[in-house]
Amino acid sequence: MKLAVVILAAGLGKRMHSSLPKVLHPLADRPLLGHVLEAARALAPARIVVVHGHGGEQVRSSFATHDCVWVEQAEQRGTGHAVIQAMPAVADLDRVLILYGDVPLIAPETLRDLMDASTDTRLGLLTAELDDPSGYGRIVRDDQGRVVRIVEEKDASVEERALTEINTGFLIADRRGLADWLGSIGDDNAQGEYYLTDIIGIAAREGVAIATTRPTALAEIAGVNDRVQLADLERIYQRWVAEDLMRSGVSLADPGRFDLRGRLVSEPDAYIDVNVIIEGEVRLATGVRIGPNCVLKNCTIGPQTQVMANCIIEDAVVGANARIGPFARLRPGARLADHTHVGNFVELKSTTLGQGSKVNHLSYLGNTEIGKNVNVGAGTITCNYDGANKFKTTINDGAFIGSNTALIAPVTVGAGATIGAGSVITRDTPSGQLTLTRVRQTTIIGWQRPGKKTT
Ligand code: UD1
Ligand code: CA
Repeated sequence: MKLAVVILAAGLGKRMHSSLPKVLHPLADRPLLGHVLEAARALAPARIVVVHGHGGEQVRSSFATHDCVWVEQAEQRGTGHAVIQAMPAVADLDRVLILYGDVPLIAPETLRDLMDASTDTRLGLLTAELDDPSGYGRIVRDDQGRVVRIVEEKDASVEERALTEINTGFLIADRRGLADWLGSIGDDNAQGEYYLTDIIGIAAREGVAIATTRPTALAEIAGVNDRVQLADLERIYQRWVAEDLMRSGVSLADPGRFDLRGRLVSEPDAYIDVNVIIEGEVRLATGVRIGPNCVLKNCTIGPQTQVMANCIIEDAVVGANARIGPFARLRPGARLADHTHVGNFVELKSTTLGQGSKVNHLSYLGNTEIGKNVNVGAGTITCNYDGANKFKTTINDGAFIGSNTALIAPVTVGAGATIGAGSVITRDTPSGQLTLTRVRQTTIIGWQRPGKKTT
């Protein structure tokens, strides 16, 4: 049984009031359609077909690397019409599962349940029981509980509107059956649209038994029509990922103030304080503590390392037992070995810090290789850029850089060297020696401050 997944994404999304197509609006930093594609892919279908609207280039190009088939529905003439556009693209497959580009939280397990429950029948529907079913199509059953049709709210009688079992829109159908049933739908209804839901009545009249299943959570079937609904789903999604993390052994100070916009792989006993944002791919080893208000993007933090409040770490690797922050910024290419310290107002870019080395206050180090047990004093700056090219600074093991030193790259500080505070170092400095550049201090004996002139 070869599966096709058809994702309907031709909606205009007028209520978003946006120049960005609705399905490209991000949830957890990924387009809505990206979430749906991920759910689809989890089912390992033979093909994924996305039905997009007129001018769908922006949507297509956002997913250029994805192996899906794109079909245009130039005019929005209803969900049935949208699926009809996709049928030629699935003509060689056996079953068709319909998903929606603006319903991002659908879980693969829910779809698998629906597919499993429908293996012996040609049509399966995902339905839900809602206290307030308004706006949805209603599932009409006969006195034996068999689904006989779906009626859209706008076409429903007062009795039908009172039904609380609704159509989520998700369905799976035998491909041949679907093609036949779609061949007999029309647009003679309240909205003048070709309703996908009309195939249910047609199939039922043919004697097709219609399977129904339910989602695990109602949020799975919630669509995004405006930015309020998008924000609501964002919070639900964040709550789910936070709960998964806590269940796997990560402590979150407050799951309501945690945002994962990518993937976090964490060993047990990591602790994350409030207002931390995780982006891209982040790995935390056991015992890591992340202080409040940190942003971690594409980085790996080693065991027992402490990141204190207000740090920004991007494309960096940090070893074990390190201490970072508060207020530190690790930029791409920062590599910190074990037992390193990077303190407040320190920025590291393309810089390696060897084991036990410390840069505790107010420094910028770029394109720098620092050995073991080096102490970089407050206010040290590597002058790595001449306006056109970048140059490297090397500081060997055990060196001590006095405060407020400017290291004019390319330059090398020898092992065990000491640099006097306030130096401007332009040439390599020998190992084990004190090097400094400093104007000698003088005192002018008897000098007097000028006083106010009297006239
Ligand atoms: C549809 C269902 C309804 C169900 C509800 C669940 C039909 C006729 N009705 O109603 O029973 O309760 O979803 O939310 O199917 N789309 C296209 N092309 C079109 C029309 C729609 O791609 O021509 C896409 C939209 O982008 C959207 C989805 O299909 O993702 C649903 O369309 P929408 O107009 O929101 O359907 P509803 O009227 O809400
Ligand atoms: Ca809708």
